[in-house]
Amino acid sequence: MPTRRAVYPGSFDPPTLGHIDLVERGLLMVDELVVAVLRNPDKASLFTVEERLEMLNDCFADQPGVRVESFDGLLVDFAKRMDCQAILRGLRAVSDFEYEFQMALMNRRLAPDLETLFLMPSEDQVFVSSRIVREVAHFGGDLTSLVPDRVLDRLKLKFPQS
Ligand code: PNS
Repeated sequence: MPTRRAVYPGSFDPPTLGHIDLVERGLLMVDELVVAVLRNPDKASLFTVEERLEMLNDCFADQPGVRVESFDGLLVDFAKRMDCQAILRGLRAVSDFEYEFQMALMNRRLAPDLETLFLMPSEDQVFVSSRIVREVAHFGGDLTSLVPDRVLDRLKLKFPQS
């Protein structure tokens, strides 16, 4: 049987428990997942790409089916280079839908044989996003139920006073 491989792309700034949950769900459907951080010099970020790669590698150190990479350019080109048959994305709420729909259809136009798979995170992660995590971290709120411990440690270093 050929290896079923999907790419799970994103900014992961920072990785959250929602991302971890989605990877675990994705691994029930494919043999290998390439978690891929977009290198986007036009978008201001809290963590550098290298910091995000380190955090993701830490989070998935015990998951042999997960490979962490970064990419630039078109996602479909990267997916082809990685020999992926599918793109994995999380759908949390209706508000995600329009953007995800547009992206999935554009990716299909660019690469008709690459399917996008949408998975829903667990209910307790449904409201978690990297943006919300950055905001709560900025104001010193409790993040223990939102991010993995190693990400929490990194956030404390970024916001020592909060
Ligand atoms: O976590 P994000 O920021 O919602 O992830 C967005 C991402 C990285 C999946 C998307 O911006 C992307 O795939 N960018 C690569 C450029 C690309 O392929 N664009 C065409 C598809 S719309």
